[in-house]
Amino acid sequence: MARSFNSLAPVLITFSCFLCLLGCYYVISSSSQASSDGFLGCLTDNNVPVFTQSSHFFMPLLNASIRNPKFFVNTTVRPLYIVMPTTTPHVQAAVRCGSGNNMSIRVRSGGHDYEGLSYRSVDAGGFAMLDMSELRTIVVDNQTSTAWVESGATLGELYYKIGNDSNMLGFPAGVCPTVGIGGHFSGGGFGMMMRKYGLSIDNIINAELVDAKGRLLNKTTMGEDVFWAIRGGGGGSFGVVVKWQVTLIPVPPSVTVFNVSVSLGQGAVDVVTKWQQVAPTMPRDLFIRVLIKNKRADFQALFLGTCEALLPVMNKNFPELRFNRSDCREMTWLQSAPYIYLGKDSSVEDLLKRNTSTFFSTYGFKATTDYVREEKPIPRDVWAGIFHKLAQPEARDARVILDPYGGFMSDVPDSATPFPHRAGVLYSIQFYNYWPVYRESGEMQINWIKDVYAFMAPYVSSNPREAYFNCRDLDLGTNWGAKYFMGNYQKLTKAKGEIDPLEYFRNEQSIPLQGNITKMRASPDDDAEAGDGGSASSY
Ligand SMILES: Cc1cc2nc3c(=O)[nH]c(=O)nc-3n(C[C@H](O)[C@H](O)[C@H](O)COP(=O)(O)OP(=O)(O)OC[C@H]3O[C@@H](n4cnc5c(N)ncnc54)[C@H](O)[C@@H]3O)c2cc1C
Ligand SMILES: *[C@@H]1O[C@H](CO)[C@@H](O)[C@H](O)[C@H]1NC(C)=O
Ligand SMILES: *[C@@H]1O[C@H](CO)[C@@H](O)[C@H](O)[C@H]1NC(C)=O
Ligand SMILES: *[C@@H]1O[C@H](CO)[C@@H](O)[C@H](O)[C@H]1NC(C)=O
Ligand SMILES: *[C@@H]1O[C@H](CO)[C@@H](O)[C@H](O)[C@H]1NC(C)=O
Ligand SMILES: *[C@@H]1O[C@H](CO)[C@@H](O)[C@H](O)[C@H]1NC(C)=O
Ligand SMILES: *[C@@H]1O[C@H](CO)[C@@H](O)[C@H](O)[C@H]1NC(C)=O
Ligand SMILES: *[C@@H]1O[C@H](CO)[C@@H](O)[C@H](O)[C@H]1NC(C)=O
Ligand SMILES: *[C@@H]1O[C@H](CO)[C@@H](O)[C@H](O)[C@H]1NC(C)=O
Ligand SMILES: *[C@@H]1O[C@H](CO)[C@@H](O)[C@H](O)[C@H]1NC(C)=O
Repeated sequence: MARSFNSLAPVLITFSCFLCLLGCYYVISSSSQASSDGFLGCLTDNNVPVFTQSSHFFMPLLNASIRNPKFFVNTTVRPLYIVMPTTTPHVQAAVRCGSGNNMSIRVRSGGHDYEGLSYRSVDAGGFAMLDMSELRTIVVDNQTSTAWVESGATLGELYYKIGNDSNMLGFPAGVCPTVGIGGHFSGGGFGMMMRKYGLSIDNIINAELVDAKGRLLNKTTMGEDVFWAIRGGGGGSFGVVVKWQVTLIPVPPSVTVFNVSVSLGQGAVDVVTKWQQVAPTMPRDLFIRVLIKNKRADFQALFLGTCEALLPVMNKNFPELRFNRSDCREMTWLQSAPYIYLGKDSSVEDLLKRNTSTFFSTYGFKATTDYVREEKPIPRDVWAGIFHKLAQPEARDARVILDPYGGFMSDVPDSATPFPHRAGVLYSIQFYNYWPVYRESGEMQINWIKDVYAFMAPYVSSNPREAYFNCRDLDLGTNWGAKYFMGNYQKLTKAKGEIDPLEYFRNEQSIPLQGNITKMRASPDDDAEAGDGGSASSY
C-alpha cells in the first residue's frame, strides 16, 4: 500500500498552510469575487492543497501533464486554481467547496484528453482544475487476481506494478504508458489484449466515486445505472472516480512481439488491404495493429504465446506479410509494454516515466476516429488514396493507426457497457496530424484531417458515423452523443439525472440531462459528415 510521495509533497503542505492565510485575506479584501473567495477559504479550511495563477508552481503544475502542447501554447481558458488532493477526503472537500461556491471543476488524471478538456475550457467561465496525479496508489492482490488502482496512476505504473508483483498476471489497457487511469477507464480503454480480454472497462468490478454532493459512493451505493455509466460513458460527466477495482488477467511467462515494416514499394497497399480481412478473425491470442506513416506500414503485434506457435498461424492466415522466425521477439508481458510503444531500446523502468519525449512536448496534434464494419471493408484503391494523402506535404508528421476488433469484443453485447462498438466492427481507424506548436499554427495540418475525414465518409460506418469517446473530437458536430455511444446515449442521460441532477459536472461534451437532449441536437439525424459543426473555437 505504501507509496512515498514525490518531492512535491512537502511543497504542497507548505503551500496549503500559506494559502490558508491568503484565503482569509481575500475574503476580507474583496467582495466582488464572492464565489472565488468562498471556494479558496473552504479549501484552506479543509487543508486541501491549492495553487492560484500567481503561484510560481502554477505553470509547471499545469504543464506537468498536458499531452497536447497546442493547449499549453494557446490554451483557450486556463484554470483559475489548481487543486492537488493527496487523499480521498481532499477530493470530497474540493467538490463540496466547488459546488457550494458556484466554482465548477474539471478533473485531470493523466491529461491526455485530445481536446484538453481536463485542464482548459472552450466556452465556460472560470473553473478550478482538480489534478489527481498525487492519488496514484496501486494495490495488487495476487491471491484473488484483483487490484485497486487510483485514478492518478498511469497505465505504465499499473503495468509495472502488476508485472513486478507477479509474472503470471497482466491487465488489458492502452499502449501509451503515460495515459492516466482516470480518463482511460472512464472512456473504455483498448490495447493489445482487447481481442482476448476486451477493454479495460470489461474488467472493472468496483469503483469509488465522489458525487456532486461530495459523497463517496461505491458500486452498490452509486446504483446500477451509474456504475454502468462510469465504465465507458466518458470522464467528466458523473463525478470524480477516485479509484477502481479491476480483475487481473492471466498472461503466459513469455509472449511474442513483432514489428514488421512494409514500404509502399514492397506492396504496403496490398498487405493493408489483406490485413483488414485477416486481423479481426485471427485467434484471440494474436493482435496485429498497423501504424501507417508517410510511405510505410508497420505491423506491430502481440501474441500471447511462443514464436513456435505463432509461425504456423501467420503462414496460414497472412502469408502476404512474409513474416518469419527472425521477426519474433520473445519476452515477458511486462517487457512487451515498453517494447511495443517505445521500441527495442526501451526498458520496463521507462513505464514509470510520467513525462514525454521532446517530440510530444513540442508537437501538438489534431485527431479523429472512424470504424469499419464487416459489411464494408475498404477497397484497395481507397487504401491507395489514403497512402497518397499521407504523402502530401501537410501530412509530413501525420499517421494512421488501425486496431483490429473481433474475438472477445464480439462476445460483449453493445448495451453491456456504454461503449457500443462491438460485434460487427472489423477495426477502428485513428487519424493524427502533428505540427511543432512553437513554430506553426497547425492550420494546414488541421485542414488535412478535415479533408481526410470527408474523404473517408463513404467507406466507414454511417448512421451514425461511429467515433471512440477517448479520442475526443470537438468537431464531430452536435450529434456527438450518438457517434460515441449509439443506442446507449439515452441511458447515459438517465444515469446523469440520477447522480448529478444539477449538472455540476459539465464540459463541452459532457452527458446532458435527459430533457436537454433535444435542445442540443440540431436534427434527429444530424450526420452530415463534411464540415459537420467544425467550430473554430475548438482549436
Ligand atoms: C499519446 C496517446 C496515446 C493513447 N493511446 C490510447 C490507447 O492505446 N488506447 C486507448 O483506449 N486510448 C488511448 N489514448 C486515449 C486516452 O485513453 C484518453 O485520452 C483518456 O481519456 C486519457 O485519460 P487521462 O486521464 O490521461 O486524461 P485526462 O485529460 O486527465 O482526462 C480525460 C477526461 O476524463 C476526465 N477525467 C479524468 N480523470 C477523471 C476521474 N478521476 N474521474 C472522472 N473523470 C475524469 C477529464 O475531466 C476529461 O474529461 C491515447 C491518448 C494519447 C494522447
Ligand atoms: C455561477 O457562475 C457562473 C459562471 O461561472 C455564472 O454565470 C452564474 O451566474 C453564477 N451563479 C450564481 C448563482 O452566482
Ligand atoms: C518490485 O518488487 C520488489 C520485490 O519483489 C520490491 O522490493 C520492489 O519494491 C517492487 N517495486 C515496486 C515499484 O513495486
Ligand atoms: C504472489 O506473490 C507471491 C510473493 O511475491 C509469489 O510468490 C506468487 O508467485 C504470486 N502469485 C501469483 C499468482 O503471481
Ligand atoms: C459499499 O459501501 C457500503 C456502505 O459503506 C458497504 O456496506 C458495502 O459493502 C460496499 N460495497 C462494495 C461492493 O464495496
Ligand atoms: C526473414 O525475413 C527477413 C526480412 O524481414 C529476411 O531478411 C530474411 O532473409 C528472412 N529469413 C528467412 C529464413 O526467410
Ligand atoms: C518498427 O519498425 C520500423 C521500421 O524498422 C521502425 O522505424 C519503428 O521505429 C519500429 N517501431 C517500434 C515501435 O519499434
Ligand atoms: C512542459 O513540460 C515538458 C515536459 O513534459 C517540457 O519539455 C516543456 O519544456 C515544458 N514547457 C514549458 C513551457 O515549461
Ligand atoms: C523526464 O524525466 C526524467 C526523470 O524522471 C528526466 O531524466 C528526463 O530528462 C525527462 N525528459 C524530458 C523530455 O523532460
Ligand atoms: C491561438 O488561437 C487563436 C484562436 O484560435 C488563433 O487565432 C491564433 O492564431 C493562435 N495562436 C497560435 C500561436 O497558435
